[in-house]
Amino acid sequence: MKVMVIGGGGREHAIIKKLKENKEITALYALPGNGGIAQDATVVPIGAKDLDGIVSFARENAIEYAVVAPDDPLALGCVDRLEEIGIPCFGPKANAAIIESSKVFAKNLMKKYGIPTAAYEVFDRAEQALAYLETAPLPTVIKADGLALGKGVIIANTLPEAKAAVKEIMEDKKFGESGSRIVIEEFLTGPEVSVLSFTDGETVVPMISSMDHKRAGDGDTGLNTGGMGTIAPNPYYTDQIARECMDTIFLPTVRAMKKEGRPFKGCLYFGLMLTANGPKVIEYNCRFGDPETQVVLPLLESDLFTVMRAVTAGTLQDTPVRFSKKAACCVIMASNGYPASYEKGFPITIPDKTKPCVYVAGAEQKDGTLVTSGGRVLGVTAVEDGLEQAIKTAYAAVETIHFENAYYRHDIGARALKAGEANGI
Ligand code: AMP
Ligand code: GLY
Repeated sequence: MKVMVIGGGGREHAIIKKLKENKEITALYALPGNGGIAQDATVVPIGAKDLDGIVSFARENAIEYAVVAPDDPLALGCVDRLEEIGIPCFGPKANAAIIESSKVFAKNLMKKYGIPTAAYEVFDRAEQALAYLETAPLPTVIKADGLALGKGVIIANTLPEAKAAVKEIMEDKKFGESGSRIVIEEFLTGPEVSVLSFTDGETVVPMISSMDHKRAGDGDTGLNTGGMGTIAPNPYYTDQIARECMDTIFLPTVRAMKKEGRPFKGCLYFGLMLTANGPKVIEYNCRFGDPETQVVLPLLESDLFTVMRAVTAGTLQDTPVRFSKKAACCVIMASNGYPASYEKGFPITIPDKTKPCVYVAGAEQKDGTLVTSGGRVLGVTAVEDGLEQAIKTAYAAVETIHFENAYYRHDIGARALKAGEANGI
């Protein structure tokens, strides 16, 4: 079977490596892929947002199945376009991808169907938002409605900060049209958990839980990033909490989307906060998380392609999805300066005997050498019997991998390890 994966980061590399385990796949393409993915799939220089290019490539190359991984093409309707020409896809149509691409849609859905989330107000005029802030409790959370590369959320501790955020988003259009509407919501506290799930629109199968580390610096300091590392499973996410989430969040969300005439098929990502008043939804993503995928898929024991096709066919209920009892840790090696400005073009050396899996996020081939080309460059994932060893193995490998200006956090998994010990895990 000829399969193509849309996207070109570490998440797509993890998906591709897992798909390669299926022997029915005879050709695997990545659009656009990257210099590291090129070792595992045929990379094709067509951008993930170039829907016309993607459709032509699929037609000309008789592609039989497509995995659309990033949020932009999903929101633009890549799955709709491919299905129109008869290509089965893994990923939601645009009318369901809206669960991520519009925070206002997601919040209103949760309110309508009683799904626990932070209390909120929606504004489409700056004056009204500024007036509301005068009496809103602090800290307060301000979110641009649309996609903003993970940067559209501002937590304001003071009134002047909050007002400045509203002005930046709504008047200066810092995130473009994404900010013509905003959500102002209640500030919640508690451990965060990422739960990715497979859903065919009826059945929802949560994958193993994980924990992201979004801030750039050790000890959760510095700027928000796309994610500096992940661990799985997340020790805060007990079996009891998992059952509660299934009853109050996962199933209600999938049923709500169906009821709204927007059945969701693909990977639905629940960003949760475990508050003193129970688990609440912080955000939905309409896709696999990055770098959550780099710890979740290595622990998947079932065949990914079989599960994906069951999602597409609507037969997930009859398809076993098993995860290993082991633990995984992924440390992101980034370019120093990320998420602000950074230099690129530095050669990367990875020793041949590296035991952990190295997923390539931002690198290209130049004259036969892999060189850095992005903010997040590599994701180094170790799988071991326990979390402590997974962390040790991942960091031991990171220390042997070199490129100029490499930067990584030193404490990926440290908080989880403490929490796990406290919970007797
Ligand atoms: P998001 O881009 O929606 O994932 O938000 C980025 C980060 O902002 C989340 O991972 C949380 O740490 C934080 N955040 C978002 N919403 C809230 C909230 N209502 N209360 C507290 N923290 C939040
Ligand atoms: N790691 C968070 C995300 O993929 O949105």
